[in-house]
Amino acid sequence: MQKLQLTTQYILYENKAELDGTSQELMNTAIEARKKAYAPYSNFSVGAAILLDNGKIVTGNNQENAAYPSGLCAERVAIYSAGALYPNNTIQKIAISASSSHKEVVKPVAPCGACRQAIAEYEMKQTTPIEIFFMGETGEVIKVNSLKDILPLAFDKSFL
Ligand code: THU
Repeated sequence: MQKLQLTTQYILYENKAELDGTSQELMNTAIEARKKAYAPYSNFSVGAAILLDNGKIVTGNNQENAAYPSGLCAERVAIYSAGALYPNNTIQKIAISASSSHKEVVKPVAPCGACRQAIAEYEMKQTTPIEIFFMGETGEVIKVNSLKDILPLAFDKSFL
């Protein structure tokens, strides 16, 4: 028997103004996408913006449904859209922002487990890491250099 340990790393920015120009612009695009979310049930809006290697940006936001599980998170709306529109391009970065009508979201909101799994599929497919930036409505931004940093021991096609 062995006891092993996994460590992870992330970068914490005080606010989005600390990001480099490209990443800041991508976050601003995610914020604009967030404002168009369809979230009448949770009143929790999320926007995501994906930068591809061809310079294109693909956005998504959460789309809720009266049959709750039929809704979809912003990150998956964005990544499936990128996969559908640009199947042969690689994803360089994803920026995510979340807000609520109940309170000011000041802490970075990380992608849910199902979205991490969806992003893992594309990272595995393209074999290069995807940088992920996430924040609330205001305040700190977290950056991870790869999806692997937030989904250790991921399930992937190698198990099939
Ligand atoms: N949501 C996202 O869009 N992304 C996440 O990673 C977490 C949750 C959405 C789903 C639902 O519409 C609302 O936020 C509340 O859970």
